[in-house]
Amino acid sequence: MSETLENLSSETRRFPPPADLAANANVKADAYAEAATDRLAFWAKQAERLTWAKPWDQILDWSNPPFAKWFVGGELNLAYNCVDRHVEAGLGDRVAIHWEGEPGDTRTVTYSDLQKLVSQAANTLLELGVTAGDRVMIYMPMIPEAAVAMLACARIGATHSVVFGGFSVDALATRIEDASAKVVITADGGYRRGKPSALKPTVDEAVARTGRIEHVLVVRRTGQEVAWTDKDQWWHETVEQASPEHQPQAFDSEHPLFILYTSGTTGKPKGILHTTGGYLTQTSYTHHAVFDLKPETDVYWCTADIGWVTGHSYIVYGPLSNGATQVMYEGTPDTPDRGRFWQIVDKYKVSILYTAPTLIRTMMKWGDDIPAGYDLSSLRVLGSVGEPINPEAWMWYRQHVGRERAPIVDTWWQTETGSIMISPLPGVTETKPGSAMTPLPGIGADVIDDQAQSVPNGGGGFLVLTEPWPSMLRGIWGDDQRFIDTYWSRFEGFYFAGDGAKKDSDGALWLLGRVDDVMLVSGHNISTTEVESALVSHPSVAEAAVVGATDPTTGQAIVAFTIPRGNVDAEGDAGEQLIKDLRDHVAKTLGPIAKPRQILLVTELPKTRSGKIMRRLLRDVAENRSLGDVTTLQDSTVMDLISSGLKTAK
Ligand code: WT7
Repeated sequence: MSETLENLSSETRRFPPPADLAANANVKADAYAEAATDRLAFWAKQAERLTWAKPWDQILDWSNPPFAKWFVGGELNLAYNCVDRHVEAGLGDRVAIHWEGEPGDTRTVTYSDLQKLVSQAANTLLELGVTAGDRVMIYMPMIPEAAVAMLACARIGATHSVVFGGFSVDALATRIEDASAKVVITADGGYRRGKPSALKPTVDEAVARTGRIEHVLVVRRTGQEVAWTDKDQWWHETVEQASPEHQPQAFDSEHPLFILYTSGTTGKPKGILHTTGGYLTQTSYTHHAVFDLKPETDVYWCTADIGWVTGHSYIVYGPLSNGATQVMYEGTPDTPDRGRFWQIVDKYKVSILYTAPTLIRTMMKWGDDIPAGYDLSSLRVLGSVGEPINPEAWMWYRQHVGRERAPIVDTWWQTETGSIMISPLPGVTETKPGSAMTPLPGIGADVIDDQAQSVPNGGGGFLVLTEPWPSMLRGIWGDDQRFIDTYWSRFEGFYFAGDGAKKDSDGALWLLGRVDDVMLVSGHNISTTEVESALVSHPSVAEAAVVGATDPTTGQAIVAFTIPRGNVDAEGDAGEQLIKDLRDHVAKTLGPIAKPRQILLVTELPKTRSGKIMRRLLRDVAENRSLGDVTTLQDSTVMDLISSGLKTAK
């Protein structure tokens, strides 16, 4: 991969941390040295952030790799750690959640409120016969009850499995079956794009199909008509009537906390299993370290959905374990208008914002004048997660959202890692636009070649994790062999994350996307991310997605789908000229080998609901095939748009 990466290495912009943030940072540079001296002692110290009912006997048991046990013998209750202990510390009146509904209705949930709600929900689940170790599915909109449901499960030791509220009957039914769940918690619906969007009909069908579910708890959110069966119970008639007294019981550090399904690129979804003590230790520590959270003064907002791991670790467990005050938003970023995010930041004086590159690029496309119309001066740390962030999107985020002040933390991690693994520290790291920089203190990561040898600075290869970490997945639910095969077999002794990466001349890490997104053009490895970054660095481009299409001469040829910025004329001759300019621009930035064979100007890109570009579908278009499965697309009409645009382009 190395010969094509000059553009990333030639990135010379550097952004040191703001002096005041550095001086008062939660975590300073010495953390790296401390963790390097004694990694396990470092993690044991972080585990002491939590309240344990019984101390552990051993920090890490790695005697049977890749099956890890952290804080062996220790016992704790996660809901107690996220809720009750803050109330006991006198912080019951602190706002835990400033909730903003899409239509503009609001709720304020304090830590005392949360304690009451979580206890009531725990009591209701117990009455429904849920006991420790049982699985509970959660299929909810972004309302406080979603967090309450997760914490109530954790409180009684039930294992939750949240399924994103946009997923189909099929997806939900498969997950209910795989997890052999007994209860579903859902709502009538939630608000999306200005109207109620139903959830319950999907649950009804999935429940009817599997025959496994004994009870369905239904929150009334939208008030829309719902069909009713004898399994259904309203949340307000059960939970809200239940006793608010519940004594949390401690569970083993390795007690299963949740299963979260990742779809992966092929095959049956994998139920990623996370457990208790190590998971909360690392989510809590990384939230404190990476976002520099000051719980007394900060207002934190993570824009993810609770259905993704980001919502689990950085809306529920990390922030609440740290006693944070956070914003939770139900809806879409363009309802009622494209300023909605900035209006929320302005209204609640959000100081820490955590969002995804896909959203940043969308905001870029919508135009600079939109964020400019709001007071964003409260923002002091900006986070990014989910995919590589192109240097241009990074710069836009810094200039138009961070107003040249707030440091950006580009955080690399996965559902499987449970918490952030590679990221700058906002008070320590001199950042480079587009780089996730270095592994956090206590984390071992490297880039290796196909012989499993560490590559020197300047080289590229496969990203691996070299040491077990506290919030690592403990396996794939019900399939140990698949766990070993998927993550631990390609390179002996390393966890292989599936991502390509490069080390620059200073050893900073640049994530290049999934290795299956690397193209082989005339014998050269070129990552889709590199070409996309080159395209997006052109002033006329808002977004780009690149795929390798089979080509008789070069093996694979680069085909780019490009969205011009709003103010750019891309019709007729102007469009032809733009395409030519863009091909030359890529050739100039990356070298002639990376010049796309074809550039298509489009208005949208196909994305999954978590914002990842579905290159598989674009490859189908580029190779003139009929489209594969489009059911996980966020908006299935996008492909029609692209295909019709294609015809006119030919
Ligand atoms: C994959 C994991 C982690 C929560 C959201 C995604 C990509 C994630 C970054 C980043 C480059 C990133 C990787 C990773 N990814 N963050 N900062 N820079 N790539 O969780 O759905 O499990 O996806 O997302 O390819 O392997 P996920």
